[in-house]
Amino acid sequence: GKVRNYRFEVGYIYWSPDCAEKMVIGINGRFPGPTIRAKAGDTLVVEVKNSLPTEGVVIHWHGIRQFGTPWADGTASISQCAINPDQTFVYRFQLDKAGTYFYHGHYGMQRAAGLYGSLIVDKADGEEEPFHYDGEHNLLLSDWWHESVYAQMLGLSSIPFRWVGEPQTILINGRGKYKCSLAAHLLGDSFSCRIRNSQCSPVVLRVLPNKTYRLRIASTTSLSSLNLAIGNHSMTVVEADGNYVEPVTVSDIDIYSGESYSVLITTDKNSSSNYWISIGVRGRVPKTQTALAILNYHPNSPSKLPSQMLPITPKWDDYSYSKSFTYKILAMHGTPRPPTKSDRQIALLNTQTKIDGYIKWSINNISLVLPSTPHLGSMRYGSKIGFDSEKPLDKFPDDYDVMQPPVNPNSRKGSNIYKLEFNSTVDIILQNANTLSGNVSEIHPWHLHGHDFWVIGYGDGKFKATQVTKFNLRNPPLRNTVVIFPYGWAAIRFIANNPGVWAFHCHIEPHLHLGMGTILSEGVDLIRKIPNEAMACGSTAQMLMNNKPH
Ligand code: C2O
Ligand code: CU
Repeated sequence: GKVRNYRFEVGYIYWSPDCAEKMVIGINGRFPGPTIRAKAGDTLVVEVKNSLPTEGVVIHWHGIRQFGTPWADGTASISQCAINPDQTFVYRFQLDKAGTYFYHGHYGMQRAAGLYGSLIVDKADGEEEPFHYDGEHNLLLSDWWHESVYAQMLGLSSIPFRWVGEPQTILINGRGKYKCSLAAHLLGDSFSCRIRNSQCSPVVLRVLPNKTYRLRIASTTSLSSLNLAIGNHSMTVVEADGNYVEPVTVSDIDIYSGESYSVLITTDKNSSSNYWISIGVRGRVPKTQTALAILNYHPNSPSKLPSQMLPITPKWDDYSYSKSFTYKILAMHGTPRPPTKSDRQIALLNTQTKIDGYIKWSINNISLVLPSTPHLGSMRYGSKIGFDSEKPLDKFPDDYDVMQPPVNPNSRKGSNIYKLEFNSTVDIILQNANTLSGNVSEIHPWHLHGHDFWVIGYGDGKFKATQVTKFNLRNPPLRNTVVIFPYGWAAIRFIANNPGVWAFHCHIEPHLHLGMGTILSEGVDLIRKIPNEAMACGSTAQMLMNNKPH
């Protein structure tokens, strides 16, 4: 493969993602960051310069497994020290697999502040994909608040708790409309709709009639679960999270934060018309307007309004509708199957809890906080810096009632690590539960760094040991993000074959910020020398100083 070089300068910029000007974290003066495009087998070299005046930064390459380069995973306090203002860090790693990915900030809530972009890996030369298409378009979905992430973080760590609320706008490729539908915008209806600003101009996908297009769709939302539909066009899902899936044709797709899909569409509809692409909110009372883009059939003008009604978003709390979509995503024939048995099962109970009166999320009663020395360094050089860790639990109490608010909601903070035996097969059961308030349980899309996993089971209510016999070991999809539905559970299986320290967390930014995550490690002794620049903070900085030759 080739070496592909990029230079990213991360800094605050004024930008108008939804036509209202705000402060955004941009890359090279733009929002969203540049789309990286490479081929499988290429080496990506991204020189990241931090031009934020007073805060650190890191960039995580979501979905890239970082075989042999765990220090390039871009998770602050886990894989590296945050890059200080005015400093540069070079991420260098191999893109081992074609697919639709993205990158984003992984420090504080910088992702929600706008630090993200697309990362598309094409098949290697000479390789074949299991489907054909004539052209492609890319849609990176996100959600946007007018309040700064600093105000959001303050609210989350206040008594009384102040939730971030629903986003003002859903963005498509960083563009949306606040208080103005795209239709109204095109017709110039109201004042806010008359604003003309190229930063928030509508997304138009130009297509030729009677062709097949691949749409790459990824979600880096801070909070929102989304549903995407295209007027009059069905979609055939062919890829999920960088893995091929058994083609399945649907009228709309659900997409959770951290997920990506490729769908194929055929432009065989009446070509004198354009068509709506609409994106609505799932799983939360929708207070945010449906986002719209235009599928523009050549040679129509892109501003020709589609003549049909908007596609209808399924009802926000129709969870059986959502489940039926998610359960339909299965591995393409020929995908490697999981080992038939696992060596270890870890059951993780997700609860909303309190610590000293502050609302948190906890996993087996531990709310994740990040240490000042990156875990990768503590684990690798533990003997030199005197690191020790208490083991987190592999299960939660048998009598825990997932249908009721926790009886004792108190939990504690921790940054403990699940140490996995190298090359062992691990099952993780993610168990959802009721929140602190009665009759509420939320959606949580969990994302694992450093791995793809097989999603071998889903269910409602509390997971029972006997359900192991019903796991799907025949065609479970390989993914890097799995959703747990309200009051439900999901089971994943993976092989701990990637030396490193890996985050595993809910991809909802405020949930992670409130502790909804945990950390796994494996094969740490096998890691080659970690670049010093990645470890120049906390006790590893001390160690590096002591080791300096005179
Ligand atoms: Cu895309 Cu740890 O996240
Ligand atoms: Cu969550």
